[in-house]
Amino acid sequence: MRSAGFSFLALAICGGLVSAKGSAKGGKATSCPGDTSIIAHTGTPIGKEISHKNVTLYISKPDSDNKKSQYDTAVLYLTDVFGLPLAENKLLADSFARAGYLTVAPDLFQGDPAFADINIPGFNTTAFLAKHGPNVTDPIIATSIDYLRTTLGVKRVGVTGYCFGGRYAFRFIAPGKGADAAFAAHPSLLEDGEIQAIKGPASVAAAETDGLMSPARRAQIEAVLGATAQPYQVTLYSGTSHGFGVRANVSVPVQRFGKEGAFLQAVRWFDTHL
Ligand SMILES: *[C@@H]1O[C@H](CO)[C@@H](O)[C@H](O)[C@H]1NC(C)=O
Ligand SMILES: *[C@@H]1O[C@H](CO)[C@@H](O)[C@H](O)[C@H]1NC(C)=O
Ligand SMILES: *[C@@H]1O[C@H](CO)[C@@H](O)[C@H](O)[C@H]1NC(C)=O
Ligand SMILES: *[C@@H]1O[C@H](CO)[C@@H](O)[C@H](O)[C@H]1NC(C)=O
Repeated sequence: MRSAGFSFLALAICGGLVSAKGSAKGGKATSCPGDTSIIAHTGTPIGKEISHKNVTLYISKPDSDNKKSQYDTAVLYLTDVFGLPLAENKLLADSFARAGYLTVAPDLFQGDPAFADINIPGFNTTAFLAKHGPNVTDPIIATSIDYLRTTLGVKRVGVTGYCFGGRYAFRFIAPGKGADAAFAAHPSLLEDGEIQAIKGPASVAAAETDGLMSPARRAQIEAVLGATAQPYQVTLYSGTSHGFGVRANVSVPVQRFGKEGAFLQAVRWFDTHL
């Protein structure tokens, strides 16, 4: 509780500075750049789940004193394969709310997330991914964006995605898909065509060790991003491996730095581009 109180104080101070400079663009960023106190790695999630058109949405709201609680902008949080049952996912969504964004995380797997680490022997990744292809996942995300835009009246949507969800962050900044800026941490299965189709700014946080995004693939992604004419960013975090944006071992300083760095990278991207 003590650290939460401190966070809100920090937000208020930084919000004041932003307004004093007159640079706040209507309900924009109020978090202090580099303020890691708003990031929760452990504890009890503060949001709640609702059902919208049969999609379960985890919703985390900024403190009501925060200017962004007017909800002109929002963050759509697309999880890794562990989905909403993984506490780190809800806690990170809460952290985006403390950064000032109404944050909505849909249950992408309709109650059927990966039951164990996707990398352990025995987990049939092929079967899992076949069951959760774009034809099944896109409509769930479209329903979530409909909730933000139609039900809540949000005007600008930033989409943040992790591993499985990272690919969809790209898919939803294609024309007419409903999101305006994307951030993806260690996206998996991302295709060149999905990058080429973007019509909004895209930021990527990459792991040093990632079986799903090798250094060669990372270089290709950079090249394809560079050809899009959209603002982009690819940041590599040393000492990290696939999944670090959510599941870093925060007892290890270099991993903690990577996870917090990826979060702050996303917040700055949205503060700049939404
Ligand atoms: C609603 O979603 C559940 C899974 O979460 C599914 O079993 C059910 O068929 C869906 N109902 C409709 C009307 O789509
Ligand atoms: C995994 O699932 C695929 C597709 O359903 C199937 O073809 C394959 O035999 C499965 N592999 C194992 C080891 O069970
Ligand atoms: C989605 O596509 C897969 C693979 O093409 C197919 O097996 C599955 O039936 C499709 N699901 C829906 C809901 O259309
Ligand atoms: C996290 O890192 C600490 C420090 O190296 C280690 O003791 C602990 O076992 C690690 N936890 C997990 C779950 O790997």
